[in-house]
Amino acid sequence: MMPAGDRLAELEGRAAQRGARWSGHLREVARHAEHSRGAAVHGVLTRLVGTALEATGCQAAVGSRCIVSGDCNSRVETEVVGFSGGSLLLMPTGPMHGMMPGSRVIPSGRVFEAHVGEEILGRVLDGAGQPIDGAGPVNCDERLSLVPRTINPLSRAPITEPLDVGVRSINGLLTVGRGQRLGLFAGSGVGKSMLLGMMTRFTNADVIVVGLIGERGREVQEFVSEFLDSEARRRAVVIATPADYPPLVRTHGALLASSIAEYFRDQGCHVLLLMDSLTRFAQAQREIALGIGEPPVTKGYPASVFAKLPQLVERAGNGGTSGGSITAFYTVLTESDDPNDPVADASRAVLDGHIVLSRELAEAGLYPAVDIETSISRATGSITDARHGALIRKFRQLNAIYGQNRDLITVGAYARGADPRVDEAIDRWPEMLRFLQQDASRAVSLAQSVMALSSLFEPESEVLNDDNE
Ligand SMILES: Nc1ncnc2c1ncn2[C@@H]1O[C@H](COP(=O)(O)OP(=O)(O)OP(=O)(O)O)[C@@H](O)[C@H]1O
Ligand SMILES: [Mg+2]
Repeated sequence: MMPAGDRLAELEGRAAQRGARWSGHLREVARHAEHSRGAAVHGVLTRLVGTALEATGCQAAVGSRCIVSGDCNSRVETEVVGFSGGSLLLMPTGPMHGMMPGSRVIPSGRVFEAHVGEEILGRVLDGAGQPIDGAGPVNCDERLSLVPRTINPLSRAPITEPLDVGVRSINGLLTVGRGQRLGLFAGSGVGKSMLLGMMTRFTNADVIVVGLIGERGREVQEFVSEFLDSEARRRAVVIATPADYPPLVRTHGALLASSIAEYFRDQGCHVLLLMDSLTRFAQAQREIALGIGEPPVTKGYPASVFAKLPQLVERAGNGGTSGGSITAFYTVLTESDDPNDPVADASRAVLDGHIVLSRELAEAGLYPAVDIETSISRATGSITDARHGALIRKFRQLNAIYGQNRDLITVGAYARGADPRVDEAIDRWPEMLRFLQQDASRAVSLAQSVMALSSLFEPESEVLNDDNE
C-alpha cells in the first residue's frame, strides 16, 4: 500500500494537471469568443413584411450574411442591411418560401465576395458573380468585395484624352473623354439600350463591363446575342440582374459591375462601363430602404437613395497611378418624359454630362435620337481642338435657331430672307439631320465623325458619306 504522503502528492499532481487542462480549455474558449465577438450562435426570425426580415437574438455586422432556415429544409441567404434596437434588419438574396415565425437565423460571419480574373471576360454573370450563360464555372482565384475603395480626388488623373465610341453624333458633337461619366436620359422605348449596344460593339476600350440592372429578363438574351459578337465578347463581361431578382441582388449587380470595372482599371486597362439602368438601381435601393422603414422624402424615394447614387457613380473615372480609366455611361429613365424626375435630377448633378434622347426624333425614325440642344458633355471643351470646338458651336447654333423657328418653317409662315441665320439653318438642316442619323450596325470613328462635321460647314474639305465609312 502507498504511503499517505505519496498518495497525497499523487492527488495533488493530478489536480494540477486537471487544472492546467481546464485553464487551457478556458483560454481556447476565450480566444474563440474574442474572434467571434458580435456573432452569437443563432437568433430567430420575428418579422417578415414585404421584402424585409427582422431577427432577434443574434448579432452580425451590416453587410455580413445570415442564413435563415425555415420549414422543410428551406434556407435563404440574407444580408444585414441595418438594425433597430436589438433587432437585425435583413434582405434576402433569393425567394423566401418556407420562412416562418421563429425560423433560425444563423450569422455566417461572411461578407459577399465575387471571384474575378481574366476568365470572366466573355461571360454573363449574375449579381452574385455566378455564371448564368451555361458555359461552366468561372475559375478565378482573386476575390473582390463590393465595398468601394475611395480614391483621393487629388490623385485622380484629369480627363485629357478623347474616347472613340463609334457613334457619329456623340464623337462629333458631344466628344467623350476617357474617364468621363455620362448619363443617357430618355423616356421608355426611345433607344437607350440600342445606343448602349452600339457603344458596346464600337468603343475603343480594353475591357467593357455591362451591367443590366433591373431591366426585362428577355433583354439580357437579346443584348448578348445582338451586341456581343465574338470580337466584343473577348473583352466584355455582362452582369445581369433582371427585374424579377430581389432588390438586394439588383443593387449588388450594379456594385459588382463597378467593382469589376475597378479591378481591370487597377491593372492599367481602359474600361468602358455601361449600366442599364441607374434608375432601376435607385428603385431597388428604394425598395430596400422603404422595406426597412426609412421614410420617403421625394416622390417616394427615401433620402439614402440620393446618397447611394454619387457613391456608385464616383467609382468610375480615371484611376490614380495605375494609368487605367473607367469611362461610364449610365442610362436614366425619365418617367413620362419628365426631365425633372428626382432620380434624373440627382443623376444629372453627379455626372459629367448628359446625352438626352428625344422621343420626337425616335418617332420620326431618326436614330440614334440624340437631342443635341439639351445634351451636354462637360469634358468636350478640354479635349477638342479649337477648330473642332468652333464646328460644334456652329452646329449647336444652327440647331437651336432651327428649333426656335421650326413651327413657322413647317407651316410655311417664315419668309425667306427675313433672317440670314434662319435661312442658313433651313439650308443646312437636311444635312445636319443626316449627320445625326447612323445605322446601328455601322461604326463611325472619331476621325470620320470630325471630318463629317467639318464637311458640313467647310464644303471644300473631304465629304464623308455613308458609302466610304
Ligand atoms: N439606333 C436604332 N436604330 C433602329 N431602331 C432603333 C434604334 N434605337 C432604338 N430603336 C427602336 O426603338 C426600340 C426601343 O429601343 P430600346 O429598347 O433601345 O429603348 P429603351 O429606351 O432602352 O427602352 P426601355 O426604356 O423600355 O428600356 C427598339 O426596339 C427599336 O425598334
Ligand atoms: Mg432599355
